Amino acid sequence: MIKIPEHILAINPYVPGKPIEELERELGISSSVKLASNENPAGASPLALKELRRGLSDLHRYPDGSCYYLGKALSNHLQISPENILFGNGSNEIIELAIRTIMRPGDTAIMAHPSFVVYSLIVQAAQGRSILVPLKEQKHDLETMASRVTKKTRIIFIANPNNPTGTINTKKELAALIQRIPKGVLVVIDEAYCEYVMSPDYADSMKYLRQGKDILILRTFSKIYGLAGLRIGYGMGSRSLIGAMNRIRQPFNVNTLSQKAALAALSDEKHLKRSIKINERGKKFLYRELEKIGLDFVPTEANFIFVPLKKNSAQKVYTSLLQKGVIVRPMGPKAFRLTIGLPGENKRLIEALKHERHRF
Ligand SMILES: Cc1ncc(COP(=O)(O)O)c(C=O)c1O
Repeated sequence: MIKIPEHILAINPYVPGKPIEELERELGISSSVKLASNENPAGASPLALKELRRGLSDLHRYPDGSCYYLGKALSNHLQISPENILFGNGSNEIIELAIRTIMRPGDTAIMAHPSFVVYSLIVQAAQGRSILVPLKEQKHDLETMASRVTKKTRIIFIANPNNPTGTINTKKELAALIQRIPKGVLVVIDEAYCEYVMSPDYADSMKYLRQGKDILILRTFSKIYGLAGLRIGYGMGSRSLIGAMNRIRQPFNVNTLSQKAALAALSDEKHLKRSIKINERGKKFLYRELEKIGLDFVPTEANFIFVPLKKNSAQKVYTSLLQKGVIVRPMGPKAFRLTIGLPGENKRLIEALKHERHRF
């Protein structure tokens, strides 16, 4: 039998949810609404869908391993050089490449808790150690995170906005952190939901990249661009870091259809604006209705809302909503997270939640 190393056996595997069709079959329901994974409820950009149909005739060819056209378009869009950009099979792959590129066994990575679970999973697989710093008032506690840096620290992860709380760190907070972090420690700023942010106090992380700081910014086409199923995201960092990450990636890590769809989606301002509008309207509706049914919530800068509960009833609320065809994400025993949906989906969620009042 193959001996599996201890650090791999110690990993709690990520448990994917069942396919929606399977859940519906098991529960004997139909037309359920999925508000569990922070996807864009409006779907993909129509321009991207058109490109996808066109791209089908090229599928017998390998993809462009350099993402040439997409890199060029993004570099124009963001006013940075293509050498500062690396595309991945979702921004998840960029997280993995960053960790594998710079962490050695025994090194540490600092991250908030709760935050995006993938950071610590990958650190563990690289035989690194994750230092978890609890959120403070549902936000990253950047001061404490900075104070935990040691000689062994290689990376700090900041999800801005944070998943699952939807909170942001301000310009001032981020500036203070960047100033305090010693050279050689990579600050990863994960901006998967940046397009949804409304606060004027949201930090412009690109500024730090231009100043030559050791930062890596993560963005994705999975959220507002509505392409989660295609798997495409990107990282922006210094030429030397991007160059090193390029060395260890698979030559064809981003498939043909993803590249074509992302290129089209990037140009679709109309879809972007519409998606923001849907989110803002949904947010207002849900704030009002959650309040009416006596639920607390964390004001969000993203496309999801974190709902803390007074009782240890998250699993029960989740199961009961599921039976009514509404899928949310339980977050530990005392909270759940819901994705802001289309108006009809939000109404279904609220109607279902009204029956759960005794569990809050
Ligand atoms: C904070 C955060 N970062 C990254 C991702 C991953 O995105 P991708 O689909 O690009 O791998 C997610 C997805 O849920 C997320 O919430």
